[in-house]
Amino acid sequence: MDLNNKDIILTGFMGTGKTVVGQKLAKLLNREFMDTDHEVEKAAGKSVAAIFAEQGEDSFRQQETAVMEGLRRYPRGSLIIATGGGAVLREENRRVFRERGTVVLLTAPAEEIFRRVVHSDRPLLKTGNARERIAELLQQRDSIYRKAADITVKTEKKTPEKIAREIINSLPLTNKNTPLQG
Ligand code: S3P
Repeated sequence: MDLNNKDIILTGFMGTGKTVVGQKLAKLLNREFMDTDHEVEKAAGKSVAAIFAEQGEDSFRQQETAVMEGLRRYPRGSLIIATGGGAVLREENRRVFRERGTVVLLTAPAEEIFRRVVHSDRPLLKTGNARERIAELLQQRDSIYRKAADITVKTEKKTPEKIAREIINSLPLTNKNTPLQG
């Protein structure tokens, strides 16, 4: 296995740091960074929150899958991809994950996730009690995340830099032939 023709796909629940760790990895490995939520927003011309509010979750999921499938335009191995926390739920998206490369699951305890996202604009946490909603969604999704993942990294009490280095160190040896700086 050679990382040079494999992307790194970051998955995990909201608030586990996929975007910030992905940016760090992209810098360390000199790859292009892609954030699927951001790509959906760019294509739609509105925020994820606005898409949920105006068009509903199903429409958001379709747009997210269109973005995932659009990744096939890029040479495999050129990208670090941060996915939205629910992208893993659809088989079409998981197929793209598998095609593109190594799937890295970032995890954090529910209480830590709550602290990280409580003041954010996450549409799925708008209804009811956010703490309960997080616990419920984590329970529904945990086995799906774990089944899709090649590597799992705990993020609690670690900096994005440390998490990124831990991911790089977990990749197969030939993956590390880009000198690490910065
Ligand atoms: C979602 C996670 C969000 C975003 C959307 C739905 C989810 O992304 O895609 O609000 O279903 O978990 P982040 O994981 O980047 O917050």
